[in-house]
Amino acid sequence: MVSRPRTELRQFADLEELSQAAADEFCRIACQAIAESRRAVITLSGGSTPRRLYELLTTDRYRHRVAWDRVEFFWGDERAVPPDDRDSNFRMADDVLLEPLAIPSAHIHRIEGERNDLNAAALAYEREIARVFGVLPDGPPPAFDLVLLGIGADGHTASLFPGTDVSAESTRWVVPQYAPAIAANRVTMTPRLLNAAQHVMFLVAGTEKADALAQVLEGVRDPQRLPAQMIEPTSGVLMWFVDRAAAGRLDRSHADHLSTPA
Ligand code: 6PG
Repeated sequence: MVSRPRTELRQFADLEELSQAAADEFCRIACQAIAESRRAVITLSGGSTPRRLYELLTTDRYRHRVAWDRVEFFWGDERAVPPDDRDSNFRMADDVLLEPLAIPSAHIHRIEGERNDLNAAALAYEREIARVFGVLPDGPPPAFDLVLLGIGADGHTASLFPGTDVSAESTRWVVPQYAPAIAANRVTMTPRLLNAAQHVMFLVAGTEKADALAQVLEGVRDPQRLPAQMIEPTSGVLMWFVDRAAAGRLDRSHADHLSTPA
């Protein structure tokens, strides 16, 4: 099998085309994982960009491609809100993906953002990840088959915000985070866990992301200022699915350098 490049940048006309390509890749990765290990363990992203991808996966074009009862769903981060809150990353995915696909509740592993003690919520999530993977929660991080991520206009990803130093986090898989820019508490997977994944797929769309994307991919390396730069899979594939608007500030040669299949 032809070895895949470690980092792939694919540019699409718009969010719809990006989402369709992401749905194809999601299904390919899930089916490969299920074929190889009888299940796929996937981390969903929050935010609004992945919503169309999630919707597409429930359509007749995609829903029949995957044995959904063999997929385990986790989240890369969560807001400090109850699961029925309109800001909940769990709620968005549950509404547009998990409920329409009738995913068994035992395969839905949400972060308990509603807890007063967010460190306890983070520790509980680490234990749940360890349980599902059948590993020890204080050992090497397990490898998700696919992690979906987005980036903010400030270069954050998951709930790894500028100025918060978790890149040096050498043991924790999940931590509480206070995001000063939005004065909000969050719970997030750490780069240590995210970078263990087999595949990491960033979904980036819209002109408002163009500056951040160009800085993250082509700017000075400064992960504290641009946390998305902390995401460098140890041995997995890093994929950037971007639309033309978000790619507007990329140096063309950069995009050409990274494989950009037609
Ligand atoms: C969250 C996400 C966050 C998101 C980016 C992009 O909880 O909001 O984890 O990292 O991916 O902020 O958000 P949009 O897709 O809404 O632009």
